[in-house]
Amino acid sequence: MPAITLVGAQWGDEGKGKATDLVGDRVDYVVRYQGGNNAGHTVVIGDQKYALHLLPSGILSPDVVPVIANGVVIDPAVLFEELGGLQERGVDTSRLLISANAHLIMPYHRELDKVSERFLGKGRIGTTGRGIGPTYADKISRQGVRVQDMFDAKILRKKVELALNDKNQVLTKVFNRRGLDPERVIDEYLGYAERLRPYVTDTSLELNKALDAGKNVYLEGSQGTLLDIDHGTYPFVTSSSPTSGGACAGAGIGPTRITKVVGILKAYTTRVGSGPFPTELHDEWGDWLRTQGHEFGVTTGRNRRCGWFDAPIARYATRVNGITDFFLTKLDVLTGLDRIPVCVGYDVDGVRHDEIPMTQTDFHHAVPVYEHLDGWSEDITGARSFGELPKTAQDYVRTLEEMSGAPISAIGVGPGRDQTLELRSLV
Ligand code: GDP
Ligand code: IMO
Ligand code: MG
Repeated sequence: MPAITLVGAQWGDEGKGKATDLVGDRVDYVVRYQGGNNAGHTVVIGDQKYALHLLPSGILSPDVVPVIANGVVIDPAVLFEELGGLQERGVDTSRLLISANAHLIMPYHRELDKVSERFLGKGRIGTTGRGIGPTYADKISRQGVRVQDMFDAKILRKKVELALNDKNQVLTKVFNRRGLDPERVIDEYLGYAERLRPYVTDTSLELNKALDAGKNVYLEGSQGTLLDIDHGTYPFVTSSSPTSGGACAGAGIGPTRITKVVGILKAYTTRVGSGPFPTELHDEWGDWLRTQGHEFGVTTGRNRRCGWFDAPIARYATRVNGITDFFLTKLDVLTGLDRIPVCVGYDVDGVRHDEIPMTQTDFHHAVPVYEHLDGWSEDITGARSFGELPKTAQDYVRTLEEMSGAPISAIGVGPGRDQTLELRSLV
């Protein structure tokens, strides 16, 4: 039976938490395969609202096994805080599985993330400050600390001492900060080991066995296509691979297992942090979208930058992820507009581009070329079938579908679990 991958098709915050929750009663495993607690996934169930950062959104579905796979970076303090918060609200977290190969966010990673951003000044990336970049950097340079290292005090000591040998030099001599005491770091992490142990397993083996046994495995991406380290707006990206290719490496399953790739796509565009964003609105319409869509970050509380829908970006996401289905979210937010601008291409220094330009310099200069589609004024938050949408809203969806290059199989008309029109099953 299949593995299904869910990916953000834009710059994150497309509504991945809601999409995952929607299928929670139809899947057996929900797996986070990359990123860490830079993510903020919102799930609204009745009058209860949950914000998941490190845990898979599937933890809220009683029959799902939630998995934090090898590709994720884990801050243990955050993990226990998040687990504690859910337990207090009556959520059973005992099924959680964590990969022994996942890398750990260490205190020096958080520190380095913050100081290097400060150092970059105007050129900063606008990271979440959670230590994501420095942790993945250590992973790639083979200096990382993994979950399993906490179970071997000697190895943990060796790794932390080695890491702090040069990190402390950088912190003190380059950034003029205080160095970290290796003993305190070692003690802190050894303190987490026994609490973590019951959750830790070979998650790749577990997932492959589950797939062999005919179970449904749902791979919940975080961030989005344009924040991907390879395919995003580098260097204004995160340090992992949210795109569907990253799901296989990050979960330890083969690409032949994946039968569907669901792209989550907002009916307009938002971005948090720095970097190019051609359809960004700096006028009152940007404020209008932010207010209507409640576009404030779940993780850092920052205002999200807002702009109109960008079709070349959706097509790009289809291409690099092999998207088979789109879930178009937040259609309800556009209610009340007479005409809705949709970006169909760019003007780059007088040259028309139908696709995202090859170079970052050109993308920075890209001026959107808009088509204007008819809007609607009727409240659509109570619609439960496509036919109940006003004709112009139906046309908006169909036009976006044509431009994006994959069928729109579900439509969000509100944050609630039931505020979804599922045209074809997402599982
Ligand atoms: P994620 O990071 O992709 O999971 O998305 P976030 O949770 O950061 O941001 C999406 C926000 O939009 C959350 O507040 C959701 O509750 C909300 N949301 C999701 N789908 C819809 C929708 O169809 N309509 C409206 N109005 N809100 C939605
Ligand atoms: P979800 O999963 C939106 C952005 C940050 C910054 C850049 C790098 O909720 O969609 P990092 O801390 O990862 O090194 O920051 O990436 N970013 C996100 N933007 N949604 C997210 O996650 C994000 N995770 C990181 O704002 O621009
Ligand atoms: Mg989010």
